[in-house]
Amino acid sequence: MAALDLDAELVTLLATPEGRADPYPHYAHIRENAALFRSSMGSWIVTRFDDCQRVLRAPHFGKGSDQDATARLRIARWGIPDKEADDFFEFFERRQSMLTLNPPDHTRLRGLVARAFTPSTVEALRPHVVSLCDGLLDAMAEIGGNRQSVDVMRELAFPLPVAVIGELLGVPVADRTQFQALVRAATRILEPTSDVEDLRGARAARVSMEQYFEELIAERRQRPADDLLSELIAVSDGSDRLTQDEVISTAILLFAAGFETTTNLIGNGLSALLSHPAELARLRGSVDDPEAVRRAVEELLRWDSPVQLDGRVVLRATEVAGQHLAPGEQVMTLLGAANRDPRRFRDPESLDLGRDEGAPMSFGSGIHYCLGAALARLEGQVCFGRLLTRFKNMQLGEAGIAHRDTITLRGLARLPVELTPA
Ligand code: HEM
Repeated sequence: MAALDLDAELVTLLATPEGRADPYPHYAHIRENAALFRSSMGSWIVTRFDDCQRVLRAPHFGKGSDQDATARLRIARWGIPDKEADDFFEFFERRQSMLTLNPPDHTRLRGLVARAFTPSTVEALRPHVVSLCDGLLDAMAEIGGNRQSVDVMRELAFPLPVAVIGELLGVPVADRTQFQALVRAATRILEPTSDVEDLRGARAARVSMEQYFEELIAERRQRPADDLLSELIAVSDGSDRLTQDEVISTAILLFAAGFETTTNLIGNGLSALLSHPAELARLRGSVDDPEAVRRAVEELLRWDSPVQLDGRVVLRATEVAGQHLAPGEQVMTLLGAANRDPRRFRDPESLDLGRDEGAPMSFGSGIHYCLGAALARLEGQVCFGRLLTRFKNMQLGEAGIAHRDTITLRGLARLPVELTPA
């Protein structure tokens, strides 16, 4: 199939409401016609599981120095004045986090917080996550008991992850809700279809979050608490290994990455269950078996990944799928397409909660592999396990689901559910 047709299909899936509502037929078509092609967005597109994994793992690839050359292209297309474009890139260039850095800076920043996210540290949080979840389910049962449908995005999918990461980091309860809008505005920078207003909004949201964390850090310096933010400050004070800017950008990254994606694991996962009643019944039958719940969460992550696109810059000349790639070129990995690659998963278009074929690509791969993967999995397991235990019947409410207008971070704006308490 000609590269032009594949490019048109890619643009459809990224930029139209229909494409974003169900990108999977488009992914399948693109993936089965080309392992790799060059898009009009300025990057190479990688479509299959093994090739995506190689791009994310091989040292020939890394993070770009100007954050995202495709964003530059986007800006050129929108006709933004040169001066504003330069300011914009300078602004984000100065705000690096582990997510945008290469070794050795990446190794140092990640090493400083990795301890807080090891599987055993995270597992110790399970009872507390269960109790936070149960509190939210009590409130949902009350609304649902009055025969009203409950918007699960508002009552559970957002408040649970924000409470978990908020407590871990030490963001006071009253301050947490404002971050949903700020993080949404700031993460528009990750979306391939964002426009100039989105980019300006992203910058303004970033400034607000920095001001917030500057003040919170000043308070914690005065009165350290038993939280991750105080630990980060202690590291920076102790051996001068973290600058104030690094503490701020790490706190913002952890907080934002900690809830925005996990919200979408809960929303996309529950929506998948509601549209597959036989699989929902199957999970209900084995909800007391932690291994069955673990496998189910892996499958929900594969089926409709909260992160659909990832990417790298070529640092050293190399080949992918037989194509020579030169330093400086951009590569976009289609994680959502990789997760349904029939070379990797048997019968990939069917949701099979008993599947046990290894991890999907939803948390990325290589040195930037999601630091919060164990925490996100734990939250997913608790959430689906407790929902099925507490409610003997769940079905999609009349208003139906609404997708957000994003694709890199894929999720729902609304998920109304009718609930019958057990
Ligand atoms: C289902 C939920 C989640 C998904 C699907 C997800 C997905 C991802 C992906 C794909 C990456 C790799 C980005 C890249 O390759 O450039 C990543 C990185 C990261 N994630 Fe997550 N994430 C989730 C939850 C979390 C949580 C709960 C945290 C909490 C702290 C977190 C923190 C991070 C951090 C700090 C990084 C950067 C790691 C690095 O650059 O070394 N994530 N995540």
